[in-house]
Amino acid sequence: MRVSVIGTGYVGLVTGTCLAETGNEVICVDIDESKVEKMKNGEVPIYEPHLDVIFERNIKANRLRFTTSLEEGLNHGDIIFLALPTPEGEDGSADLKYILGVADDIGKLIKDYKVIVDKSTVPVGTSEKVREAIAKNTSVDFDVVSNPEFLREGFAVDDFLKPERIVIGTESDRAIQLMKKLYQPYVRSGNPIIVMDEKSAELTKYAANSFLATKITFMNEIANFCEKVGADVDKVRIGMGTDSRIGKRFLFPGIGYGGSCFPKDVKALQKSGLDLNYDFKILNAVIETNTTQKTILIPKIKNYFNNNLKGKNIAIWGLAFKPETDDIREAPALFVINELLKEGVNITAFDPEAMPNVERQLGSKIKFVDDMYSALDGVDALVICTEWSIFRTPNYNKVRDRMKETVIFDGRNLYELNEIHKEVKFYSSIGR
Ligand code: UDX
Repeated sequence: MRVSVIGTGYVGLVTGTCLAETGNEVICVDIDESKVEKMKNGEVPIYEPHLDVIFERNIKANRLRFTTSLEEGLNHGDIIFLALPTPEGEDGSADLKYILGVADDIGKLIKDYKVIVDKSTVPVGTSEKVREAIAKNTSVDFDVVSNPEFLREGFAVDDFLKPERIVIGTESDRAIQLMKKLYQPYVRSGNPIIVMDEKSAELTKYAANSFLATKITFMNEIANFCEKVGADVDKVRIGMGTDSRIGKRFLFPGIGYGGSCFPKDVKALQKSGLDLNYDFKILNAVIETNTTQKTILIPKIKNYFNNNLKGKNIAIWGLAFKPETDDIREAPALFVINELLKEGVNITAFDPEAMPNVERQLGSKIKFVDDMYSALDGVDALVICTEWSIFRTPNYNKVRDRMKETVIFDGRNLYELNEIHKEVKFYSSIGR
């Protein structure tokens, strides 16, 4: 099939590349000329495991092309994906200026029937607004479909190629048939393509992400309570998670959820509620608890150092909001660093992928090093903010040789308590 993807951010790029991988002819459109030029030369603008290989393969096969021309993109595709940013506006609601701006242009350029697909995470009612924005400039027939993405960073390629479900929101039979044809190769295993009205599809995305954020936050509170009563959250987690109604996944406590989706989506759903005089009390609590959780290690660190952190040297392992990404949006590590800097701490940080992004933001406020052990040279403590695999089995001889004192604050519960207590002088984690 012929497909176009407008916007080559994280979602657009993964969508375009993975659609080309099953033989579709894809054109990706972006207004950023230098980015388009780089992509034409085979350069992937984001870090995402496995994306580079299929990106290169499909460019070589001429199934994946790039342009800055919306007109070229629109003429090419039978299906046009909108994968545009929906940043958090000042009041917490999703800002639709990019999506509606492109919709307006589509109305001016459209020549024949197209299915316009909303891939971005958008509030309920956006498809309708997109339809209106297009229709005011044209009398050509088209359909608008809501098709939310459920891609996890770090696993996006796999999530796209083998989705647990595809949600399609539209009542147009013509659009349903085209969308089903497009997605059929991805659900061979029998996973469902769920067709519903567009509003329900739009809400499904917010409901799913807000539920997951709530699940994590609930566990974070259980972890905090475990510390009060002397229970071990790892045990509680396993005890709970084996109940299939609860499920094992997304029960890992830590220093809060971050990233480009959960924080933004939870706030946007809360705001959509308020706009309609509906107070989402559970989401209010989730947002508040997660804010506190991001810096939950700080009082523990202060307590250990008798409330005086000034001039202390502290290493940070992990800056990305989660492993296997260089994304630092809403990353708990940044909140931890900010608090430590306020206390007058000297920080040395290591992350396998995210250091350039943090350096752009923090400049010389903290020191960056090229390997995890160099970060430990002469430090008073180590704080772990992201559960990268390489941190899981450190060489403790090196850790002891390099740290002034082997004091570890672990925001991701990486180590078995029995083991770690044999290796280091002091170890503190979450809920254990
Ligand atoms: C998420 C959703 O999973 C995906 O379906 C959606 O469409 C986009 O948002 P992503 O933000 O890439 O994906 O990351 P995810 O793996 O879901 O983790 C989100 C946050 O929750 C991270 O900060 C992670 O550290 C945290 N988390 C996750 C926990 O603290 N505990 C857990 O058990 C799981």
